[in-house]
Amino acid sequence: MILERQNVLNLKKLRSQLGGLENRPAINELAKLIKMSQLYQSGQREISTKLENLDAEFQVNYDYNPIHHMESRMKDMQSLLQKAERKGYDLTAESIQKNIYDIAGIRVITNYLDDIYSVEKMLTHQTDVTLLRRKDYIKHPKASGYRSLHLIVKVPVFQSTGPVDVPVEIQIRTVGMDMWASLEHKLRYKTDANQALVDKYGDKLHDYSDELEKIERGMQEIHKDLI
Ligand code: GTP
Ligand code: MG
Repeated sequence: MILERQNVLNLKKLRSQLGGLENRPAINELAKLIKMSQLYQSGQREISTKLENLDAEFQVNYDYNPIHHMESRMKDMQSLLQKAERKGYDLTAESIQKNIYDIAGIRVITNYLDDIYSVEKMLTHQTDVTLLRRKDYIKHPKASGYRSLHLIVKVPVFQSTGPVDVPVEIQIRTVGMDMWASLEHKLRYKTDANQALVDKYGDKLHDYSDELEKIERGMQEIHKDLI
């Protein structure tokens, strides 16, 4: 059910990832960055497990799964350090942990719109999960037409020395929103922001986002009538 996109980081992998970076962090920070990465991956697993458990319970109680599938990704060290550099943060584990919240990310793809908010509620009501930030791009879509619910939560990870709170970014969206976002991402990022293509398809994609919303609402009504 979970598509793991990356495995555990070690010093060798980290060195090769940092090849193209202008300002490499001090060598004594590398070990700290590796520990940080491991810690965040654990936080990601804690949240993924909670979501899997909720989905499994739903299946038993209601014969229905709100979650279609999940994807998890760790921001690779190169893009993490590039982001820190871009935003003017120190290239240390401490500064990165303090300022960047999307090191560990989980994307939850739901079947229907209402499932987005029930997944949010079930997760954030858990006593060890704390909501740090919430952006509802469904009620307030981005100018591009992008829709999704973005949450940043923190969860304790129990290490050998005690618990450490770890932030995890969660994007929750329907199958339709996910399909739209993948295509739009391709248009904006994968084509090296080819302006001619953005001009050609940008408005059309925006319209499709609105249409998809209508279709998804309609299908949800039918689904409600069937259960
Ligand atoms: P960052 O520091 O850049 O992460 O800013 P932020 O946390 O304010 O980011 P935001 O909430 O805008 O969204 C971050 C993520 O949402 C991106 O990495 C994308 O995965 C997704 N996203 C946001 N806007 C768009 C969009 O217009 N199109 C697509 N396809 N994805 C988007
Ligand atoms: Mg982000």
